[in-house]
Amino acid sequence: MMNGLFTHVRQAALVAAGVAACLVACTGRPADHDAGTVPEVEGLPDTVTFADVAPIIRSHCTGCHRPGQVGPFPLISYQDVRRKAKTVRKMVVGRWMPPWPADTAYSRFLGERTLNARQIATLAKWVDQGALAGDTSALPPLPALAGSAATGVPEHFGPPDAVVWLPDTFYIPGDNRDRFIITKAPFVLERDTFLRAVEFVPGNRRYAHHMNGAMISYADGAKGDVFGGAAYIDADSTRSLDAFAELQLQNDDGTWPLLTPNLVNYLPGLSPPFYPAGIGGYRIAREGAFLLNTMHYGPSMRDTLDRSHFNLWFSAVAPQRPMKELFLGTLGMSPVVPELVIPPDTVMTFRTSLRVPADISVLSINPHLHLLGKSFLAFAVAPAGDTIPLIRIPDWDFRWQYAYTFAHMLHIPKDAVIHVEAVMDNTAANRNNPFSPPRTAVAPKGRHMRTTDEMLQFFVNYVDYRPGDERISLNTGTAPTTDGAPR
Ligand code: HEC
Repeated sequence: MMNGLFTHVRQAALVAAGVAACLVACTGRPADHDAGTVPEVEGLPDTVTFADVAPIIRSHCTGCHRPGQVGPFPLISYQDVRRKAKTVRKMVVGRWMPPWPADTAYSRFLGERTLNARQIATLAKWVDQGALAGDTSALPPLPALAGSAATGVPEHFGPPDAVVWLPDTFYIPGDNRDRFIITKAPFVLERDTFLRAVEFVPGNRRYAHHMNGAMISYADGAKGDVFGGAAYIDADSTRSLDAFAELQLQNDDGTWPLLTPNLVNYLPGLSPPFYPAGIGGYRIAREGAFLLNTMHYGPSMRDTLDRSHFNLWFSAVAPQRPMKELFLGTLGMSPVVPELVIPPDTVMTFRTSLRVPADISVLSINPHLHLLGKSFLAFAVAPAGDTIPLIRIPDWDFRWQYAYTFAHMLHIPKDAVIHVEAVMDNTAANRNNPFSPPRTAVAPKGRHMRTTDEMLQFFVNYVDYRPGDERISLNTGTAPTTDGAPR
């Protein structure tokens, strides 16, 4: 059973869900990139050829840069990479690709997408020497790239136990505009059961930029028709509460159903967390819906369509270690200090902190800022005074908002305080600033939402601590693509 606070937070989140989602994220792209420097490393081959480069590209780039995935062009064959050699060098040396904003010198996670110094230097030298093919006959054949749906589903999970489709096809007009949509994917299952994992699969990866999803659970008999209501609602022009009413999310008696926020998210290249058996997981009601409280489609120059779906994996047994969440910051359990108001032409630091009510084992964390974000830092201070680093993002990039999963459960003792610190840059020098000249930016208040609202949020997914958790690996065997080498 949930305690009063949790219920309260969850209901608050339902009212605020439309704004809590990342409404402006991913709308733009940096106009230019920092040049970066090529690291000095010893012992590179005198002549670097594609034979040296291909393994790096395959393990760190091809996953996204292949047909049907988010990368704008393929990086698979020699020709693919040679054709893009100059930009590849620039993106890699400037540390823009592969996208991994977290500082690996501060804390480490599963599935880090970073390249080490040797890999960066190898790619740079290859391009500088004219992107030679060399002898690629010894290269192992390309590993079978997983089917259209798979984004990193561990093999032993097998095919999904259920598939829940969005109710209708979404039409994306070719008017080169971003679109923010609120919608729901209702379901009726055979019985109440347990959800082990859920994956959002966009039908149109090229334009589906991000999705922030919650789960709605109806009590037995509370809802006559879960499928009723509008299909797709424009989040820019509709207040979230109105949108929820149009989607007919309410119980038949007008009260609001139980909502589990942030249960399933999609971002370019992001795999959903697949925790080892018994860890995490949720109760899932027979009748319910996934609430997509923002689905963001990027601009398209031609008319196109999307129909996305959810893959569900069930568990016959109740989660032994049910997932819980701490939600710091805007609309969450701890206030932002000072109040999140950023006058034009200022760079300000905002903080929020929360005392941890019991010993917890953290599985994953998710920092969230919008366009004006400049940097993000989160750590816990234990009662004994020692610091537990959580995450440091030196150059905030609103386009890559991952849920970061620790390699092992991370113990945070009772009465530790989690501190979050974000710097926001509302000057003209911030090239993601949506306004020129800059205007005052504020956090969303109540149910009014505007796409230019800023927010500071930090989500901590955890299970109650048990002794020995520190040694429990969260790696289900698919996540890491790095070789773990020092960088
Ligand atoms: C998580 C998915 C992902 C991974 C991994 C990834 N990319 Fe990308 N890449 C993208 C996306 C999405 C874009 C388009 C970004 C945009 O529009 O701002 C992109 C853009 C690029 C561009 C074009 C940038 C520009 O501004 O023209 C290059 C070059 C590139 N990637 C190279 C690489 C290389 C090299 C790697 C591996 C070392 C890599 N990428 C790994 C997703 C990825």
